[in-house]
Amino acid sequence: MGITVDPEWWKTLFDEVYLLTDARSVCDVEVTRKEVDLIFELIPILPHHRVLDLCGGHGRHSLELCTRGISHCVLLDYSRHLLKRARVETTSRGSPVDCMVADARSAGLQSESFDHVLIMGNSLGYLSDPEADAVILGECFRLLRPGGWLLVDLTAGESVRKRFNARGWHEIGEDILVCREREMRVNTVSVRELVVSKREGVIRDRTYSIRFYETEGVKELLSSVGFDCIQMTTDFSPHSDGGDHGFMDCRMIAVGRKP
Ligand SMILES: C[S@@+](CC[C@H](N)C(=O)[O-])C[C@H]1O[C@@H](n2cnc3c(N)ncnc32)[C@H](O)[C@@H]1O
Repeated sequence: MGITVDPEWWKTLFDEVYLLTDARSVCDVEVTRKEVDLIFELIPILPHHRVLDLCGGHGRHSLELCTRGISHCVLLDYSRHLLKRARVETTSRGSPVDCMVADARSAGLQSESFDHVLIMGNSLGYLSDPEADAVILGECFRLLRPGGWLLVDLTAGESVRKRFNARGWHEIGEDILVCREREMRVNTVSVRELVVSKREGVIRDRTYSIRFYETEGVKELLSSVGFDCIQMTTDFSPHSDGGDHGFMDCRMIAVGRKP
């Protein structure tokens, strides 16, 4: 029997356990620094610019941007767990990050109020409706000022196909074992993720499903929403250990400008 997935999985998966299962990617400061280095290389970002970190999770990119002198970041995510953690961190560091819980399809923010919108860490393709990604990118377009830049960081579909691994596992520290069983159908990978604490037993047994894009597909998507000056950077990985980091390996970064 195939892996079955609740279409609303993305509303509840991103909690403290996710910060363990994806710790190698999202709780490693060196990984975040490499990703933010790339942001600075790819878009003309200046200290006074207003940046929206859309689907920004626990705020690792916003925090690093502020450390590098960006004076106004808005961190938007659906996960209350991750934003609670982000608020603790931004307050303790005194970072100028506004945290807000919202759905990226309809952020509820003023039109043309950002110089840059970032979607980092493979955060598209979660909603079962294939049109939803275009809706999210349309919202980015609305929020950007004319001349502003969108940057989207996604797993490269070409690599997903080439490196597909039906079973992966890794350990986190002494206690946590993460096992993933995967199925690929057309442009979607469904995953059953089992997380075991050696001390406490099974702490998660969940499924999720992510749609992926090939390079040309992302370009078409950005273009269909109205972006121009679209450029792709492929073969980016913040990891160099050759391990299986799921969707955080082999990324492609698309940038596009609002005319
Ligand atoms: C893999 S995490 C990446 C988080 C962050 N960008 C990073 O790189 O650390 C994906 C994030 O997207 C958020 N997300 C997914 N769909 C969303 C939506 N429709 N609206 C708001 N947030 C969403 C999730 O809550 C989760 O925090």
